[in-house]
Amino acid sequence: MPQVLTIDGPGGSGKGTIAQKVADYLGWHFLDSGALYRLTGLAAQNHNVALDDKAQLAVLAENLDIRFELVANDEPRVLLESKDVSLEIRLPEAGQAASKVAAFTEVRDALLLRQREFKRAPGLVADGRDMGTVVFPDAPLKVYLTASVEERAQRRYKQLLAKGQSVKIGDLLQDIQARDDRDMNRAVAPLRPADDAIIIDSSFMSIDEVFQQILDLLKDRDMIAAK
Ligand code: C5P
Repeated sequence: MPQVLTIDGPGGSGKGTIAQKVADYLGWHFLDSGALYRLTGLAAQNHNVALDDKAQLAVLAENLDIRFELVANDEPRVLLESKDVSLEIRLPEAGQAASKVAAFTEVRDALLLRQREFKRAPGLVADGRDMGTVVFPDAPLKVYLTASVEERAQRRYKQLLAKGQSVKIGDLLQDIQARDDRDMNRAVAPLRPADDAIIIDSSFMSIDEVFQQILDLLKDRDMIAAK
């Protein structure tokens, strides 16, 4: 059976970076589930579907024509209907649209099987909000990665700046707070740690420290060989 490590947490907690790094290091598959919600939001915009039209959104989610292309030492390239949207889906507007469409059960159900198909040998690192609670409830290691809202806004700021996007830190802070609020308080699959999740607060930790802690947890649980 393929191993599964889930990493859930709020936006900007570093889970995307860490999940990708662990997957690269172990040669496991990587699921960026947030990208699926971002792509659904973008597809809605492209096809003039309103962000509250849950039935049509579910049809879009079910039929998303997407591809993740691996790029050495970088984030995968993301294609929607053959168009490169790697940058577009990372913008704050795409995050807001994602969290709106993600609040609908119909959309979440439409994306469920697609997410579970990422579970393939030798293993999967799944990054999201409900990986440990809903999509892979049997995962032997669940991590909930968080950080203070100020630290998360700073990280997003640096990430977007590195991609050549100019944004205001105050706007990012508001964006993160609005998304946290919507994600944590929605009726379906709200953002929360699974009962058996290990909570890591990365506010004062480097990427390498978090990475090492997760490797140690995987070794403790015999999910990878201790070196
Ligand atoms: O992780 P990312 O910031 O890309 O996620 C964008 C949005 O997609 C989140 O704010 C959340 O509303 C939604 N999402 C979700 N469930 C997941 C992953 C993301 O609801 N597993």
